[in-house]
Amino acid sequence: MKTIDELLRQGVEGKRVFVRADLNVPQDGTTITDDGRIRAVLPTVKALAEAGAKVVVASHLGRPKGAPDPAFTLRFAASRLGELLGRPVAFAGDTIGSEAHSAVAGLENGQVAVLENLRFNPGETSKDDAERAEFAARLAALADVYVGDGFGAVHRGHASVYDLPRLLPAYAGYLIATEVGVLRKLTDDVRRPYVVVLGGAKVSDKLGVIDHLLEKADRILIGGGMAYTFLKAKGHEVGISLLQEDQVPACLEYLARAEKKGVEFVLPVDVLVSSEFPDLKTKAPAHPTLVASDAIPADQEGLDIGPETRKLYASKLADAATVFWNGPMGVFEHPDYAEGTKAVAQALVDSPAFTVVGGGDSAAAVRTLGFDEEAFGHISTGGGASLEYLEGKTLPGLAALED
Ligand code: 3PG
Repeated sequence: MKTIDELLRQGVEGKRVFVRADLNVPQDGTTITDDGRIRAVLPTVKALAEAGAKVVVASHLGRPKGAPDPAFTLRFAASRLGELLGRPVAFAGDTIGSEAHSAVAGLENGQVAVLENLRFNPGETSKDDAERAEFAARLAALADVYVGDGFGAVHRGHASVYDLPRLLPAYAGYLIATEVGVLRKLTDDVRRPYVVVLGGAKVSDKLGVIDHLLEKADRILIGGGMAYTFLKAKGHEVGISLLQEDQVPACLEYLARAEKKGVEFVLPVDVLVSSEFPDLKTKAPAHPTLVASDAIPADQEGLDIGPETRKLYASKLADAATVFWNGPMGVFEHPDYAEGTKAVAQALVDSPAFTVVGGGDSAAAVRTLGFDEEAFGHISTGGGASLEYLEGKTLPGLAALED
């Protein structure tokens, strides 16, 4: 993979450089509620601007349906990027139309423009190769060089991620280079014990990674909504907890394989339950009950791991040399169900191990629960992307930079 350093050595003064970033950030109205992904692309954008490039930043945000939708505009992310860069950033209200062309044509050396959401054009995510190729060709007309730095989207075979880098000289930005370097440490030359903590709602999202990790990890700790399908597989009743009944056979198979391979597979021993999902807007007290994980009442759902499980998981993390964590342990957005996720985050902070937090909800949890990001070895900007990397899949956006 050629990196941005090589590009900078060749010189970029006056060149139009297309930076495919992942500015898919959560926003509430006009406010960006977590700007982690915008910060993550700053080193690349800064380095290019300082070297005199005309920087064209493009990204998706959310999942609009191939047409402009004001709820998914990148306008606010663009102005946050400008604030963080400390320099004005132009914004084009389209991607390949007249606004994009005039914004790019108006750039002086060292200036930055952001295009509107790439997914406002159906060509970006199209399954039809020709439609994607056409959109990619029109994006290519806006630039001389491509820098891929949207790590969170490299698992998508989309026009700006997969087709465009084949049309222009292509380089990996600093973020992608860092993320790939970290993930390699979890796959190629892992220091042991290697402990993996998996949470989040759906067990089906994690099957591929569990399958792969059963060959790599020494210990796998399970929390979050996905734990209940495993508890069911162990023969426990889970009341009205999140359950993917059709995944019970897969869970059973994984439990058996873990035992055979000597991988410690740890499930919650106690959980906080309630008959109601908490109100995440008012955060009104939820008054949960604590029960053993094999005694969840029929009319209750598990919403966080309990205090015994918190202690157990902290002890299972204490001697780790490498930790990968993806997915919260409970409904951490509500204070009554945040303790499990906090306990795992704290155990990672206290650990001398090389700790990696997978993106998505766990990265957001670490930040919203007030942990210092510097206390972790690495917080990935890609949830799905880091999981698919660990599954051993070929990621289209990385493959395109390697060609
Ligand atoms: C993410 O949030 O994981 C990335 O930005 C990719 O978004 P997507 O799942 O909508 O493709």
